[in-house]
Amino acid sequence: MSQPSQRTLVLLKPDTVRRGLVGEVIGRIEAKAGWRIVEMDLRTIERPVLEQHYAEHEGRPFYEPLVEFMASGPSVAMIVEGERVIEGIRALAGPTDPIAAAPGSIRGDHATIVRENLIHASDSEESAEREIKLFFPEVS
Ligand code: RTP
Ligand code: MG
Repeated sequence: MSQPSQRTLVLLKPDTVRRGLVGEVIGRIEAKAGWRIVEMDLRTIERPVLEQHYAEHEGRPFYEPLVEFMASGPSVAMIVEGERVIEGIRALAGPTDPIAAAPGSIRGDHATIVRENLIHASDSEESAEREIKLFFPEVS
């Protein structure tokens, strides 16, 4: 029997919006059979939300510039639902460092800078549940 459908939290970061790549990235998600965007909006993410979202990185040298970058303009926040979507969108995004990311992945095709790597996607079922509550408290 197949596993029950998963949900994941996806953020198209401010560089994706600024560079006009929202359609390109959403197109790749929609192209995967059976995955559905069930919530989506354009929002400038408030600092307290970013501090919770990136709490695991607090104190690291890249933390402050990361939070500043993420607050620098609107992002697209979405919940995507479907078969193995947590692992699947991480694979579609590619690894954190866009130069190490394979061509064909979102980061591998479009990004060069580690911080400005276009997309966030939850990395586990636990993270997805926590992040969906944080970004879409009304639907969880
Ligand atoms: P994300 O959380 O955004 O989905 O990305 P990730 O899991 O691939 O990477 P993670 O290690 O969780 O780092 C979160 C975000 O911080 C920025 N970063 N900058 N050395 C650096 O300058 C550095 N390291 C990480 C990236 O934007 C990364 O996506
Ligand atoms: Mg992460």
